[in-house]
Amino acid sequence: MTQRVLLIISGGIAAYKALELVRLLRKRGIAVRAVLTQSAQQFVTPLSLGVLTEDHVFTQLFDLKDEQEIGHIQLSRQADLVIVAPATANILAKMANGIADDLATTLLLATDKPVLAVPAMNVRMWHHKATQRNLERLHADGVHIMTPDDGAMACGEFGKGRLPEPEAIAAEIERLLALPKAPDPLADQPDFAREARLFSTSLETDGALVGKHILITAGPTHEPIDPVRYIANRSSGKQGFAIAAAAAQAGARVTLVAGPVHLPTPPGVTRVDVETARQMLAAVEAALPADAAIMVAAVADWRTADAPDQKIKKDGTGQPAPLALVENPDILATLGHHANRPTLLVGFAAETQHIADHAQAKLAKKGADWIVANDVSGDVMGGDANAVQIVTAAGIESWSTLPKSKVADKLIEKVAHALAALAD
Ligand code: CTP
Repeated sequence: MTQRVLLIISGGIAAYKALELVRLLRKRGIAVRAVLTQSAQQFVTPLSLGVLTEDHVFTQLFDLKDEQEIGHIQLSRQADLVIVAPATANILAKMANGIADDLATTLLLATDKPVLAVPAMNVRMWHHKATQRNLERLHADGVHIMTPDDGAMACGEFGKGRLPEPEAIAAEIERLLALPKAPDPLADQPDFAREARLFSTSLETDGALVGKHILITAGPTHEPIDPVRYIANRSSGKQGFAIAAAAAQAGARVTLVAGPVHLPTPPGVTRVDVETARQMLAAVEAALPADAAIMVAAVADWRTADAPDQKIKKDGTGQPAPLALVENPDILATLGHHANRPTLLVGFAAETQHIADHAQAKLAKKGADWIVANDVSGDVMGGDANAVQIVTAAGIESWSTLPKSKVADKLIEKVAHALAALAD
C-alpha cells in the first residue's frame, strides 16, 4: 500500500529545500500532501508544490471548499506520518504549547499520527533557552526531532541551524515509515509513571541531550545454525536498555538496536529489533548519522558459514558436528572507521582478566573514543549491577559497583558533557 505523508512547510529561507524533499519522497513511491503556512508562501508557491505533489496544496484553515471536501481533522489523519520541514522556532514554540491558530498548527494538534519536526533557524535562535525548552517538551511529547546541520547560514552567521540535506530527511522519513506502528510507548503505563517521566527532574542531565541523536546497541545476537538452532550468549540487554532510557530522559532522540531480549522498550526510545550481527550492522548504519553511538551489544563474534533451510540431522557416526564458523562484521570497528562516524563512539568490553590492558588495546583496534570495560567474571551478564572502568585516551576512570541504571545515568552524564565540550 502506498505510504502517505503530510508535509507542513513553515516559513524559513530553507523552505525552498522542501521542493527537493517532495521530489525525493515521490521518487521513493511515497505520496505527499503539502500544507504551507502563510509565511512559507513567501518562499514557496502553492503552484510549484502542487505540481510536484500532484495534489491540492492546503494553505487556509477557513477555506470553505477545502473544509467541505476533506475537513482538517481528516487531513491530519490521512497520512502515515506528519512532517514539519523546515520547522521554524516559531512553529516549534506553537507545537510545544498546543497553540492552534492556523491550518498547520491546528493539524498538528488534531493528528493522531507520528510527527517528525526538522528544525531550521538562525544559530542563536537554535541555542536560545526558549527553543531548547520547547524541543525538550516536544521530545517528551513523542515528537521525532532531527538535529539541524552545522554550517554557514543564509544570514551570514555560522553554526548549528541549517536544515539537514533533503536526502537525509528523506532517509529519516523512510526509517520512521518502516517502524512497526507502535502503540504509544507510554500508553500501558499507569498515569503516575507517565507523569513521573514527563515531569521528572531527577537526572542532572535532564534536557542536556535535546537535539542529539544517540544510537545504542544492546543484547545478544542469535546466529542461526538451522531453522531450529542458533548460537547465542548470556547477554540480557539490561545495561544497554538502561542507557537508552537514560539518554531519552536526558532529551536525546534515541535509536536502540536490540538483539533478541525480553525487555520493554524504554519510554521515548525508538527500538529496532534484530537477530543477527549482520542485521544489527545494517540497522546501525541505517540509523546514522548520530552524535554519539554506544555499542553495548554482545555481538556474536562468529556465525555459521551456512545455515541450511532444513534441520541438520545427526548421522550417528560420532564425527564432529558439521559446523563451519566464519567471523561476523565488527559493528563498533565499522563505525570507528565509517565515513559517517558518530562524533563520540563508545564501546563496551567484556573481560575476565587484565581488564584495563585489554580495553586500552580495544580502544585503538576499534577506533573508539571510550571503552567501558566490565569484569564479567561474576554475574554481570543478566545481573542488575555492574563495576566498570572507563578507558579513554586521557586515562582510566574506575567506578564502584553500581546498579546498571546508575551506570547508565553516569555514562549519559559523561556523554552529555563530552558532546557539549566538543560543540564549544
Ligand atoms: N562489538 C561489535 N561487533 C562485534 C563484536 C563486538 O560491535 N562483532 C562491540 C561490542 O558491542 C562492544 C565491543 O565491540 O562494544 C567489544 O566487544 P568484545 O566482544 O569484548 O570484543 P572483541 O572484539 O570480541 O574482543 P575479544 O574477543 O578479544 O574480547
